[in-house]
Amino acid sequence: MAKVTVPEIRRKKERGEKITMLTAYDTPTARILDECGVDVLLVGDSVGSVVAGYPNTLPVTVEEMIYHTRAVVRGTERALVVIDMPFMSYQVSLEEAKRNAGRMIKESGAEAVKLEGGASMRETIKAIVDIDIPVMGHIGLTPQSIHKLGGYKVQRQREKLLEDARAVEEAGAFAVVLECVPEEVAREITSELSIPTIGIGAGPHCDGQVLVIHDLLGLLGDFRPRFVKRYVNLRPIISEAVKRYIEEVKEGLFPDEEHTFHLGDR
Ligand code: KIV
Repeated sequence: MAKVTVPEIRRKKERGEKITMLTAYDTPTARILDECGVDVLLVGDSVGSVVAGYPNTLPVTVEEMIYHTRAVVRGTERALVVIDMPFMSYQVSLEEAKRNAGRMIKESGAEAVKLEGGASMRETIKAIVDIDIPVMGHIGLTPQSIHKLGGYKVQRQREKLLEDARAVEEAGAFAVVLECVPEEVAREITSELSIPTIGIGAGPHCDGQVLVIHDLLGLLGDFRPRFVKRYVNLRPIISEAVKRYIEEVKEGLFPDEEHTFHLGDR
């Protein structure tokens, strides 16, 4: 079982092999996904909305990202672990961006950072790459810009998307996430760039795909963006198990003999 590295992710594009990426935020989930053979585990700042119950990703802190990433790293042997830089950890100055990226790698054990933004983040990506920290870019729908964008909408400005993608590659990123981009534009970017594109809501022509694990597992209820494929609907299964537990405790059926200790047990 060979460890997935940053150069290996780039080679996958050269070989025409699809890259698989999923989010993870805790040790047991990371262990399952890693054992299944996913290439990249992204500790996304989506942890804010998916796990912490924030209304969006903006409140997430560097400390929260480090805490969740350490948990994911402990459950991972093979996959490349990428940590998202949260809102305001890289936008203020190049110095702060480098300090936060360094701290996040040093304290979390992740192997690369991801940050949102295209042409406007060119210098920031370059500064972080210049201190030998691999950067994954993220363009298209960038959730940290939710207030500017006015909602989670498909981004259709072809010229801007191409300019952003080129800027991220030129700045030295090793891969780029394309979020909510029409498939025609994602295809054009993917064939033009030498670095891999990883799509979420960007159609089938990207070099890889990413989904939020809670969406794939059906843990979040019925609202689902069109690009989400729910591979299993765990929410009713979990509810059923919890309801049975409550009933059995109330009726005195749990714990039964099998789940009870006695003085004479060895
Ligand atoms: O935060 C996140 O989970 C992400 C992915 C959706 C790409 O950025």
